[in-house]
Amino acid sequence: MTVFSTLQPAEQARQLANPEGPVGIEVAEWLNGNNREGNARALALLGVQTGCHVLEIGCGNGRAAPEVIGQAAGVRYAAIDISSTMVDEANRFNAAFVAAGRANFHLASAEHMPFADACFDRVFAIGVIHFWTDPIAALLEIHRVMRPGGFALMSALDLRSPPQFAQAEFGFHLRSAAEWSALYRQAGFSSVEAQNVESEQMTPDGTPIKRYAIRMTARR
Ligand SMILES: C[S@@+](CC[C@H](N)C(=O)[O-])C[C@H]1O[C@@H](n2cnc3c(N)ncnc32)[C@H](O)[C@@H]1O
Repeated sequence: MTVFSTLQPAEQARQLANPEGPVGIEVAEWLNGNNREGNARALALLGVQTGCHVLEIGCGNGRAAPEVIGQAAGVRYAAIDISSTMVDEANRFNAAFVAAGRANFHLASAEHMPFADACFDRVFAIGVIHFWTDPIAALLEIHRVMRPGGFALMSALDLRSPPQFAQAEFGFHLRSAAEWSALYRQAGFSSVEAQNVESEQMTPDGTPIKRYAIRMTARR
């Protein structure tokens, strides 16, 4: 049994939206296992090349950082998260990369990022954008920090068969692929594409289940 399975749906949603304390750390670790397959596929699509500057939004406990940095020579990685528990955990896990100046983690939201204009070649966010109440504010901010021609990849839960915790009253804002695409275009992105993806996951009580997500890719 996982800690996640002992929580009520509202508390599960709260710990996914902003993991807090020892329970948040355990929830993030459960999520690492559950999202491993989807995250690996997303990173392969990100196309990180030599010298790329990569931004992860909603990095959680920072387990993607070594994978990103290991993709090519000279890659620099930055990440933000609104959870101080997660930023501390990500810094702890990636201490060697942080000390070497290859990774840095910031307590910040997608809507207000502590970065200069046009500084990232790649941006990604896994399981984060469905928490945004004002997606245009976040997408405009992401557009601002990306270099012209930069590539963004973000995934969200689909409206199809969402988990019990993914309810609007608990802070989840599920949208269709067409709605996401329109928002991206409104924020100024080009080459906007939406793909429906399936992955094998576990319910909180350990039963295998198919989950449906929308993968958005776009260029600045
Ligand atoms: C479901 S977890 C996913 C974590 C990680 N991406 C993964 O796949 O394991 C969502 C994360 O996004 C963060 N988050 C939620 N809203 C955010 C926002 N507006 N800006 C930055 N981070 C946010 C949460 O604190 C949490 O760590």
